[in-house]
Parts: sequence; structure tokens; C-alpha cells
Amino acid sequence: MSLHDLKSLFDLTGTVAVVTGAGRGLGRAMAAGLAAHGAEVVLCGRTAGTLAATADELTAEGAKVWWKTADVSREEDVTALLAAVLERHGRVDALVNNAGINPIYKAPERTDAADWQNIIDVNLTGVYLCCRHFGAAMVERGRGSVISVSSVAGHVGLRRTLPYCAAKGGVELMTKSLALDWAPRGVRVNCIAPGYFETDLTAGMRDHAALSERLLGQTPMGRFGKAEELVGAAVFLASPASSYVTGQSIVVDGGWTAQ
Ligand SMILES: NC(=O)c1ccc[n+]([C@@H]2O[C@H](COP(=O)([O-])OP(=O)(O)OC[C@H]3O[C@@H](n4cnc5c(N)ncnc54)[C@H](OP(=O)(O)O)[C@@H]3O)[C@@H](O)[C@H]2O)c1
Repeated sequence: MSLHDLKSLFDLTGTVAVVTGAGRGLGRAMAAGLAAHGAEVVLCGRTAGTLAATADELTAEGAKVWWKTADVSREEDVTALLAAVLERHGRVDALVNNAGINPIYKAPERTDAADWQNIIDVNLTGVYLCCRHFGAAMVERGRGSVISVSSVAGHVGLRRTLPYCAAKGGVELMTKSLALDWAPRGVRVNCIAPGYFETDLTAGMRDHAALSERLLGQTPMGRFGKAEELVGAAVFLASPASSYVTGQSIVVDGGWTAQ
């Protein structure tokens, strides 16, 4: 491989990426990162205002982005999103399953079926629905990269976090299962597993002095992650740099799971 080819390993020019939950937080950072490396990015989420504002900000910086609302837990929204992407681009090269909702911090014996269902619907079924429909389009074309954002809660158990751990653990093994089925068909499937990052999702725990101190005490790097620190893993997994990587999970956690 020439130096020129090696240099373009992370180049996403001419590719189309869909990022769910892209209006804010980690999804926004990854969408910006993919766009910065040349991808045309479709931003999705439930809130039109947030998506439009993010799209305007990124466009002003030179990114190629557009947005469409979709609730990933509703199959009709996911198929409508896919139809819109295919109508505009005729293909999708990368899917980032980032949309997710907060853990509910409750003792497992007090976690009722509604608590369970809310989290599972978005954090597990939402990923399944996007994988199924966008993955089908990728398989038909014989290429694509699916990147699902799980969590350290998909690698180790966390206390008082039953449905969230079940959902994220499910995403991790869904990834391995899909990777096996789709490897011979040109579609790679991987996870990114963040530790504790500075986003809306963790605002409650970061604002709680004692909890925040305990979490930082358990984090070897001694700080929370910043959203842009997830971009490298997303660009790697979407790009030819990871062409022989499938069924894996990249943990980005400041060393949290190393102990
Ligand atoms: N922050 C962390 O420390 C951390 C750690 C581990 C894993 N994660 C995971 O990383 C992902 C992003 O988290 P974040 O911290 O960036 O959270 P966030 O700031 O709360 O953002 C969540 C995003 O998901 C979207 N969303 C929520 N429900 C949705 C649905 N049903 N359909 C479509 N979009 C939906 C939200 O937009 P709307 O509300 O407009 O729909 C928002 O854009 C999640 O899967 C989360 O579990 C985060």
C-alpha cells in the first residue's frame, strides 16, 4: 500500500453516515467527527429543534449534513428514515446507533415492568430495529459498517441499573451475532462502549457531589470523558482503517474497566 493510500485510511469522503441521537451529546460529537472526515451525515433524533440547530451549526462550519426526526423505538419511524436516506443517497455506508436514554437508578426488586420496558424499547429494541432495516440495505449492497454505542454497563454489572445493563449487554452480544451473519456479506458490526462522559445523560450524577467524587475515584484518569474523545473510535470503525475489524467493542472509559 502506498503512503497516499495509508494516509487515506481514515478518509470518509463520499460516504453516507446516519447517526441516531445526533442532536446533542455523544451523537452530536460523532456526527461532527464523521462529517469532518468527509462523510455526508444524516442526523436523527426525536426533537426537530435540536436537530435543526445542530445541522445549522455544523453546516456553518462546512459539514454536509441534513436531519430527519425519528424515534428509534418505533419501527415505522426507522423505515421512514431509511426510505428518506435511500431516496436522497441511494445507499448508506455507516450507521451509528447512538440514541439512548438514561439509566433508572433503582433497586432491582423495585424496578417495575414499565421502568424495564422504557429502557429496553429505546436502548435495545431501537438498536435492533435500526440494525435490521439499515443492515438489510447494507447487506443488499454488500458493504457497510454498523457502530452501536453500548456502555461499560454492557461489559460489567452496575448496581441499581438493571434494565440499562440488560439493554447494553444485549447490544454487545447483538453486535457479535450480527457480525457473524454479515461478515461474509461485506457488513461489519462493532460497538463503542463509553465510560462516564460529560453529557446531559450524566448531568444528575456529575452534579451530585458525593456520587461524582466516587465515580472519579473509580476512574484511573480521574476525570469524565469529553464527547469529542469518542470521535476517534467512531471514525476508525466507519473507515477503511478498520476493514478487518468486526464483532468487537472498543471501550473508551479513561481506564475504568481496566481495574
Ligand atoms: N454520557 C455517558 O457517559 C454515556 C456512557 C455510556 C454510554 N452512553 C450511551 O451513549 C449514547 C448517547 O448518550 P449521551 O450521553 O450523548 O446522551 P444524551 O446527551 O442524553 O443524548 C441522547 C440522544 O439520544 C436521542 N434519543 C433519545 N431517545 C431517542 C429515541 N427514542 N429515538 C431517537 N433518538 C433518541 C436524544 O435526542 P431526543 O431527546 O431529541 O430524541 C439525544 O440526541 C446513549 O446510548 C448512552 O446510553 C453514554
